[in-house]
This record gives sequence, structure tokens and C-alpha cells, in this order.
Amino acid sequence: MATGMFRKAISRVSTTPASRLVWLRSLSTEVEAQKVEPKARDSSNLKTFSIYRWNPDQPTKPQLQEYKINLKECGPMVLDALIKIKNEMDPTLTFRRSCREGICGSCAMNIDGCNGLACLTKIESGTDTTITPLPHMFVIKDLVVDMTNFYNQYKSIEPWLKRKNPPSVPGKEILQSKEDRAKLDGMYECILCACCSTSCPSYWWNPESYLGPAALLHANRWISDSRDEYTSERLEAINDEFKLYRCHTILNCARACPKGLNPGKQITHIKQLELSNSF
Ligand code: SF4
Ligand code: SF4
Ligand code: FES
Repeated sequence: MATGMFRKAISRVSTTPASRLVWLRSLSTEVEAQKVEPKARDSSNLKTFSIYRWNPDQPTKPQLQEYKINLKECGPMVLDALIKIKNEMDPTLTFRRSCREGICGSCAMNIDGCNGLACLTKIESGTDTTITPLPHMFVIKDLVVDMTNFYNQYKSIEPWLKRKNPPSVPGKEILQSKEDRAKLDGMYECILCACCSTSCPSYWWNPESYLGPAALLHANRWISDSRDEYTSERLEAINDEFKLYRCHTILNCARACPKGLNPGKQITHIKQLELSNSF
């Protein structure tokens, strides 16, 4: 049927053999153009990711390795691109991830100069993207950094409820008013991704002595908890020139936090309490 229509079209449009030839040539050019067009569309969807690579088993200098991805065949987030590269192009690429929805905090990395979660960061079209590990951290492999110091600092603030007295009704919860519960907003949401601490200049220069914004935010979370009975002891434990007072309220931490928290504000609250307590 298509051939029939084609013949009809020729007989309608062209009356002499020469004009038929011209018409057929223009038709074949159109067909060729249609063949080429999808390829041109594909190349416009290609995006280059430059990713930090370092393998401790082959101790050469770290390097940026380029991978080109067709964005039409990839999910919208940077983590989708990393997973695609690992599954389809290079299984040696190493990075952490788990929940892929901004809950576990494990996919924290530096994307185009800003710390963030790969699973919550949209792929920018049009420009190349550079991905490196969280800054000023020891690299274990590729995008995986050593979090030992960061977790030890978190542990040092004793992030659990501490009581001197048993609950008024044995075996029952220790109740809290709605107002007291609201004091924990802006802190309990922290997922310990370390985007804030690794964007803090004071933490870069004193990573072992300054607790950093994440650990201090959690310190304030327990200091502010109406059910905790060790508030003075907690304040005393961090009332230290390095542990607390290396914070200069530059607020890089608030800019970096993918959960929209403001550790700098919580640190200021601790400093105010330290003043009013003045041991
Ligand atoms: S406000 Fe304090 S914790 Fe936050 S980035 Fe600045 S110095 Fe670091
Ligand atoms: S405060 Fe924000 S940036 Fe810092 S560890 Fe918690 S969630 Fe991550
Ligand atoms: S994979 Fe869990 S926060 Fe990104």
C-alpha cells in the first residue's frame, strides 16, 4: 500500500523523466537527513563527568577520569550517573551509597565545588561535572573517605540520653512537652553526612582538636533536650578553646547542609549557654 502511495505521489508531482529524477534526489536527501538526525540528538545529550580516581593498590598520583554519558539513558541525579558508570562502563569506580533518597548520608561528596549528597543533586545539563571526595579527608579509594575521626568526634559528645534519676513511673517513657520537643527541631534531622564539617575552614586546619559543626550540632541537641540531666557536664566537656571556640561563625556549614540545617546557629547557642553558665 505504501509503495502504491509512493507511485501515486511520483505520478502527481513529476511529469517528465528529468523532473522525476530531481524530485527523487530531493526525497533521498530528506531520507538521509532523517537518518542522521537521531545521531545528532544523541551527541547533544552526551555529558562528561570528570571523577576523582585513586587506588591504594596502584599508588600513582590521583587523577580525574572522564566518562561520557547519554543523559537520555540516565536518571536525573548525580548518583544515577555514578551507578550507570559503575554498572555499564567501569566496575572499578568506588563510592558509597545506600538509601538513594537523602536519608543515610553515605553518598556525600564534592560536586562541582560544593559538598552535597549525590542522590539529591540534579545533573546539570550543558556543562561538564567534576566529582571529587569530601575535601580535607583522607581518601580510602576514589570517592570513599575515611570517616573514623568524624565518627569518633560524634561519639565524644556522648550522643544518647543521660539521666541521674530513674523515670517517675518505673518502666515508662520520660515525657516531654510539645514546646520542649520543638526545641530539638533543626538538629534531630541531621544524617551525619559530614558535608558541613568538611566545608568548614576551621575544621580543615584543626580536624583533630576542633569538634566541627556536625558533632557540635549534636552536642547542642542533647544539651537542649529537657529529659537529659547532664546539661552542665555536657557544657563543661566542650568548653574548650579548640573543641568549641574554633568556630568563627563563617556559616559555610549552613550553606553545605543538604538537609537545610544550620550548625553555626546551634554552635552560637552553645556559646551563649557557656557564657550564662560561666563555670
Ligand atoms: S560557622 Fe563555625 S562550624 Fe560553621 S563553617 Fe563557620 S567556623 Fe565552621
Ligand atoms: S548538619 Fe547537615 S551537613 Fe552536617 S552532618 Fe548533619 S545533615 Fe550533614
Ligand atoms: S544514598 Fe543515602 S543519602 Fe544519598
